[in-house]
Amino acid sequence: MAKISIPAANIEYDCTDDTIMRAATRAGLGFPYECNVGECGNCRFELLEGEVTYLRPNPPGVTERDAQRNRYLGCQALPKGDCKIKAPLRDHYKSKHLPQKTQGELIEAFDVTHDIREFRFRLSQPVKFLAGQYGLITAPGVEGARAYSMCNTGESGEQWHFQIRRVPNGAATTSLFDHLKIGDVVGLDGAFGMAYLREDAPRDILLLAGGSGLSPMVSIARAAAANPALAERKIHFIYGGRTARDVCGESFLKELPGFGERIHYYGAISMPDDPSSAGWSGRVGFVHDIAEQMFGENINQYEVYFAGPPLMSQSVMKMLIKGKVPATQMHFDQFY
Ligand code: FES
Repeated sequence: MAKISIPAANIEYDCTDDTIMRAATRAGLGFPYECNVGECGNCRFELLEGEVTYLRPNPPGVTERDAQRNRYLGCQALPKGDCKIKAPLRDHYKSKHLPQKTQGELIEAFDVTHDIREFRFRLSQPVKFLAGQYGLITAPGVEGARAYSMCNTGESGEQWHFQIRRVPNGAATTSLFDHLKIGDVVGLDGAFGMAYLREDAPRDILLLAGGSGLSPMVSIARAAAANPALAERKIHFIYGGRTARDVCGESFLKELPGFGERIHYYGAISMPDDPSSAGWSGRVGFVHDIAEQMFGENINQYEVYFAGPPLMSQSVMKMLIKGKVPATQMHFDQFY
């Protein structure tokens, strides 16, 4: 067992078979992070004493400057023994439900679109999560875990459901889509993530999604629809795909009480001339443009959640900044 100490905060915690950031989060500390898979760089810390190795070799979030300054990525750094570190702890990153490592048995799987499938796992022990959070799945035969958002709500934590998009030639999704059978077991870890439903925010809700960003937005819509304290809030859900066969999500929202009254769904495509878009009668354009056209200067009156491919997220972010949406009203996790 390794002890990690943060002298500036007078804190010490255990880190056994775990990364420095994840162990801190399990100990209830607010260690900054976002993607959890070594890409965003938000979990940087400075190693004052001790040695670490990386879970994922050469994680892309490491820069040359990090090496010069003895900085490492907390989500990937495994201590070789006791370590002293400098890390900027923030209450904002504390988890309401402490993340846990567990296992999930696949009990159901079905296609949502031609390349998105929902996988339902029953956990070996319940682990609660907040709507919009994500878990790490270790698929059989695949080295390392991948982050995927849940689409159900997590008050009981007995099951975690994921809507996952197949990545062409991706090792993890090939394992999940082509080899995983009902009854098979995967490793799960979580929940993580800051883009969860803010139940105390006094604003209507705008959900923007593309690709498998569907999953956390469906989770938030479900949790918001089920919460009597949010009964007065309107929920607008925009989903963008390239062609008509990519567009999805409406069937999940239709099951919610208030659909068509306070809950509204809008599908959009960006490639109307593609043969598979023939007959499309919905909106045409990118998610950020559609949202800007629909909500205009009032967009800063909304609590905005978004998830999707990096280009979509960057465009949404720019549009929200242009629309003067305060950062405290924007919620997304950078790992898609
Ligand atoms: Fe560690 Fe993103 S690189 S949280």
